[in-house]
Amino acid sequence: MTYPRKHLLAIEGLEPPHIADLLDLAESYALLNRSGKTQRDLLKGRTLINLFFEDSTRTRTSFELAGKRLGADVINMSVSTSSVNKGETLLDTASTLNAMHCDLLVVRHGQSGAPSLLSQKVDAAVINAGDGTHEHPTQALLDALTIRRHKGRLEGLIVAICGDIAHSRVARSNMHLLTTMGSRVRVVGPPTLIPAEAARLGVEAFHDMKAGLAGADVVMMLRLQRERMSGGMVPSAREFFRFYGLDAEKLAFAKPDSIVMHPGPMNRGVEIDSAIADHPTRSVIGEQVEMGVACRMAVLDVLARGLRRNV
Ligand code: NCD
Repeated sequence: MTYPRKHLLAIEGLEPPHIADLLDLAESYALLNRSGKTQRDLLKGRTLINLFFEDSTRTRTSFELAGKRLGADVINMSVSTSSVNKGETLLDTASTLNAMHCDLLVVRHGQSGAPSLLSQKVDAAVINAGDGTHEHPTQALLDALTIRRHKGRLEGLIVAICGDIAHSRVARSNMHLLTTMGSRVRVVGPPTLIPAEAARLGVEAFHDMKAGLAGADVVMMLRLQRERMSGGMVPSAREFFRFYGLDAEKLAFAKPDSIVMHPGPMNRGVEIDSAIADHPTRSVIGEQVEMGVACRMAVLDVLARGLRRNV
């Protein structure tokens, strides 16, 4: 296993063998999870703290399950119950976590860069579970694993990431991971929601679903992240759906065996039609959630190996 760092803060900077090894390990956890033989003692005696400054259902639960399946003691700290609400700074929180001898720290924060700052102040290995509009590395890993299971590879695939790219840390991590692994990545959305950095990342930008989806192997839909928008960057939800919402008519532009993905939470009828989200053969949204647990087990496993070396 070639993982070069103590933390997992971003996909940017990882090289193909690091990503491939993580995906291979995650695949073995996916098989183990399906076999039902999941309780292991790899992280026995280790403390994993889920520190969530933003709401989350699936990511927090997924890390909790991953930690428990590997035998760690898992503690969930959310802002509403912690003293952060009473004005404690991020750095005070860090010294509290150090005093608790936390080994693995999973952080979600509204500010880009917060997990990185914490990683400089805590003894634990830090995993970024989503920071502002920056990155969400484990989401990109689980997306890649889901794609690989269906298409057998990442290299050469046409992947269309559609909707609110500008505010999406999921899109940013996916652009880094997929271009690093040799996929041909497109971003599709209204000009106001396509970031200027797309070209720098080697990604092609489209403002029209027909052209953007033509020949795509993978269609990844994203939520309109209104909480991160300043002012009216999009028209009404109805109008957005008309131009950019994925329905059967627009999906027909992509390859007939293309798969449909969404990181959740979905806004049905805004970026995706219910019939497509629930499509029995084309939608892999449920499998993304399943692969999320396997990928997080792989990440916890690899980072814990680094901790053991440091003991
Ligand atoms: C994403 C996130 O939080 O960045 N959700 C997730 O982790 N499953 C996407 C989103 O909030 O739209």
